[in-house]
Amino acid sequence: MEAEKKLLLAGLCFLLSAASPGASSAQIDPLVYEEQLLWVSGSQGNINTYRIPLITFTPKGSLLAFSEARKSSSSDIGAKFFAMRRSTDKGATWSPTVFFLDDDTAPDGNNLGSVVVDEETGSVILIYTICFHLYHCGTSSTMMVESRDDGLSWSPPRNLSVQLGVKNFAPGPGTGLQKRYNPAKGRLVVCGHGTLEGDGVFCILSDDHGRNWYNGAALKSIPYNQPKKPLDFNPDECQPFEMKDGSIVINVRNQNNYHCRCRVVLRSRDGGLSLPIDDLYFDNTLVDPAVAAGAMQKEGVLYFTNPANEQHRVNLTLRWSLTNGTSWEKNAIQIWAGPSGYSSMTTLDSGSVEDRKYIFVLYEKGHKDYDETISFVKIHLYGGQ
Ligand SMILES: *[C@@H]1O[C@H](CO)[C@@H](O)[C@H](O)[C@H]1NC(C)=O
Ligand SMILES: *[C@@H]1O[C@H](CO)[C@@H](O)[C@H](O)[C@H]1NC(C)=O
Ligand SMILES: *[C@@H]1O[C@H](CO)[C@@H](O)[C@H](O)[C@H]1NC(C)=O
Repeated sequence: MEAEKKLLLAGLCFLLSAASPGASSAQIDPLVYEEQLLWVSGSQGNINTYRIPLITFTPKGSLLAFSEARKSSSSDIGAKFFAMRRSTDKGATWSPTVFFLDDDTAPDGNNLGSVVVDEETGSVILIYTICFHLYHCGTSSTMMVESRDDGLSWSPPRNLSVQLGVKNFAPGPGTGLQKRYNPAKGRLVVCGHGTLEGDGVFCILSDDHGRNWYNGAALKSIPYNQPKKPLDFNPDECQPFEMKDGSIVINVRNQNNYHCRCRVVLRSRDGGLSLPIDDLYFDNTLVDPAVAAGAMQKEGVLYFTNPANEQHRVNLTLRWSLTNGTSWEKNAIQIWAGPSGYSSMTTLDSGSVEDRKYIFVLYEKGHKDYDETISFVKIHLYGGQ
């Protein structure tokens, strides 16, 4: 009788925990649920190459995917459009590509970028750079456009360098964040990097929904503003996300492989004002060929995507951590074995049973080269259950 009761109780506990995925994150068993190529280089109009994927949910639950549409070569410099596709059914179907912010024939045009969603106003803000590489152009400018209608239309560009000062600042690439918890609840935080010489992680902040921006934390490369050598300390492209205790973790590309061929992790406990060196560590599990990666927190679990290889951009892998990044679960899943580059991740935290099940990845994918396509993946966190 006692044993039966115990069995019954165990069964009940199992049912309860199964009914609330995430409550017991040990059940996480990610499954690639569907995949779609959103852009194929060379296939549309006069676009040579699509690169630099960004993906976000809007407060209304639409998915917005962005990329750079590079007009005449695969190079980081050169003239571009931004390309965007929008999905109102959580990635099942997508709008045709909308091209916007045409920079004509600029020798060193638009560079993406960080997308940040303001859940209080419902607006979507895209921060990007023009003339980042100073190639046949005079001044690098940090620019912003905003959509107040869920990504359907965009405001004219605003030059944030007027408020921030002139500096070569390349946001992301990836997502910025709005602080959900104190300190500084409601603040918009966008982090990025500098030129290879003047590199480092730099964050810009806004406490009034993007009207005014100011410079926050800076963690500079060593030697700063000097040419680098292999193995110098050179933190570069980065992806910030907020933890439930209100701290901001930033997962960073380790450009010159200082200390390891792996990711640098930073943490700000004051809403992006500082990045103390005491909180910096190298995550040896997150091996990396020096690339822009995806990172986020959902229901206390950290997720990370990158081409998990020390030398080459191949092997796009999803990892997850139940311990705030101090360890990663052994059973990482491979999304694509072949060439794969930058990636960006998003999820909807509406609290609904459906939205708790999925995360969404946008990444560079190819057969010979990673810049052949940009692919969207919907991942079911509980093995399709
Ligand atoms: C942006 O503002 C900065 C600072 O005022 C200025 O130097 C730069 O030329 C401006 N850029 C553009 C594209 O207007
Ligand atoms: C992870 O961090 C959160 C705060 O963000 C804390 O509440 C939780 O206990 C931590 N979990 C572990 C396993 O350390
Ligand atoms: C791909 O990533 C997995 C997980 O880290 C690793 O075990 C495997 O060796 C990697 N393969 C290649 C070819 O890099």
